[in-house]
Amino acid sequence: MTNVLVTGGAGFIGSHLVDELVDEGYDVTVVDNLTEQVHDGEPEYLNEEAEYVWGDVRDRELMTELLEDADVLNHQASAVGVGQSMYEIEEYVEVNTLATARLLDIIVNEEIELEKVVVASSMSIYGEGTYRCSEEDELRHPSLREEEQMKQGQWEHICPECGAELEPVATTESKPRESTSVYAISKKDQEELTLSVCRAYDIPAVALRYFNIFGSRQSLDNPYTGVCAIFSSRIKNDNPPLIFEDGEQTRDFIHVSDVARANRLAMESDASDVAVNIGTGSPVSINEIAETLIELYGKEDELSPEIANDFRQGDIRHCFADPSLAADELGFEAEVGFEQGMRELVEWGRKRDAEDRFEEAHAELEAKGLVGED
Ligand code: UD1
Repeated sequence: MTNVLVTGGAGFIGSHLVDELVDEGYDVTVVDNLTEQVHDGEPEYLNEEAEYVWGDVRDRELMTELLEDADVLNHQASAVGVGQSMYEIEEYVEVNTLATARLLDIIVNEEIELEKVVVASSMSIYGEGTYRCSEEDELRHPSLREEEQMKQGQWEHICPECGAELEPVATTESKPRESTSVYAISKKDQEELTLSVCRAYDIPAVALRYFNIFGSRQSLDNPYTGVCAIFSSRIKNDNPPLIFEDGEQTRDFIHVSDVARANRLAMESDASDVAVNIGTGSPVSINEIAETLIELYGKEDELSPEIANDFRQGDIRHCFADPSLAADELGFEAEVGFEQGMRELVEWGRKRDAEDRFEEAHAELEAKGLVGED
């Protein structure tokens, strides 16, 4: 039976992936360090059919031992806070870049034979999404908005040629990359290191550029995680979700079960030496997220989203996936609709205690000068 080594397999995405693989008959070994920012000890949802090793992906000896027994490496372990990566720089580069380099070094020098390597990458490596100027009918790839522009509350991108507002369009894998955070740079490193080393040694490898993932088991206590988890814990604690900018910024929200399946298809398909977008192809605004979560928690009468008169430095305005390469290469298409996915998140969220640590995290970012008022 194929033995899959899943790094970060106790986490949000990794654990759903483990369930998917076990259901499909794979032998699964997980290595995870149960990082404190995410876990409060062993999570209750661990799959009994998988084998768990509590250790660090940076531990050369341990990883050598585990890789020797593996047929497939699925590398999900990562430090994931974008804002936090801007002050825990060394930690992010160690956990993401260096650990990946070490895994590849082991594979090459210990002559580990693998059928496939799958690595979790991120849409964050693009920086801003792709835009179109309708006046000139041309694509544009703007850089991040200047602080001056943000301070004036001019949220949308403006065409540098004609001054018209740019319209967001789907982002393809060929978009020039503009990684604007340490997190994004480390994700780009993970992707490029994996693809280039595996190419050189003829190991089939696929990088999955995740868009914004949501769903059950997303850490509701980790204030550095995505907006769906942050809003969920605000709402559960009877606090209004705080919206940066005007809330009309959009992202491509994909349900974690779809992401788990995309990983399995990446393993099983013939795809090799390729990085693909894992998104739905449909943009959703942050206002829609806040409103949907308030409604699903049944708190429309008590709560409404609050515009915080704030913006986050380094935030992009819009980015959504062109999912066609993933369809061609992996035969993958997202199946869980937005409402259906949000319902699953809320059903799970209702059963959880969630500490609202938004203020704490926000104060930390403020102290580092990483948020600014408009
Ligand atoms: C970032 C990363 C992405 C990562 C994701 C979750 C980038 C470009 N992308 O995405 O790789 O998967 O974090 O870790 O760096 N917002 C509010 N109020 C809040 C929190 C967020 O209005 O309390 C807004 C943000 O300003 C942003 C949007 O919601 O406009 C999405 O934020 P977030 O969930 O952090 O994701 P990204 O920044 O897209």
